Amino acid sequence: MRLIVNGNSLEIDVDPEMPLLWALRDIAGITGPKFGCGIAACGACTVHIDGVPVRSCSMPVGGVEGEITTIEGLSQDGKLHPVQQAWLETQVAQCGYCQAGQIMTAVALLDEIENPTDADIDNAMGGNLCRCGTYPRIRAAVKRAAALKTAGI
Ligand code: FES
Ligand code: FES
Repeated sequence: MRLIVNGNSLEIDVDPEMPLLWALRDIAGITGPKFGCGIAACGACTVHIDGVPVRSCSMPVGGVEGEITTIEGLSQDGKLHPVQQAWLETQVAQCGYCQAGQIMTAVALLDEIENPTDADIDNAMGGNLCRCGTYPRIRAAVKRAAALKTAGI
């Protein structure tokens, strides 16, 4: 089957029931999305399909329609995505395990809502769990990313 991942066309030969996360990590070698819970409960495996965040641990690869973007595909021409830039500036990550998923969810939020309120952020990010408790920094980073985007950075 053919997948488009981060703008590249990949031909993979796998059981269509295989979770997308397995296909990305174990077959395609794209390890940004993480395995956390395996039951769509933590968000560590979040990727985008046509810009919409999905839990790749719980989606059969055979059911994917559209272009997949993982955290590896966010930066363009060597320039960080504003959300990545904001995450660095705000030093969000602690152990880092959940952060690729957090960032992918934040990117989708800001594509939908230019200047999210605390409630918008909590609502959008609430399904992405962080064992290290980085939630206050995540909220600050989303606001910083919104400002960077508005400034065209
Ligand atoms: S690993 Fe997919 S939601 Fe937890
Ligand atoms: S930074 Fe450690 S789980 Fe979120």
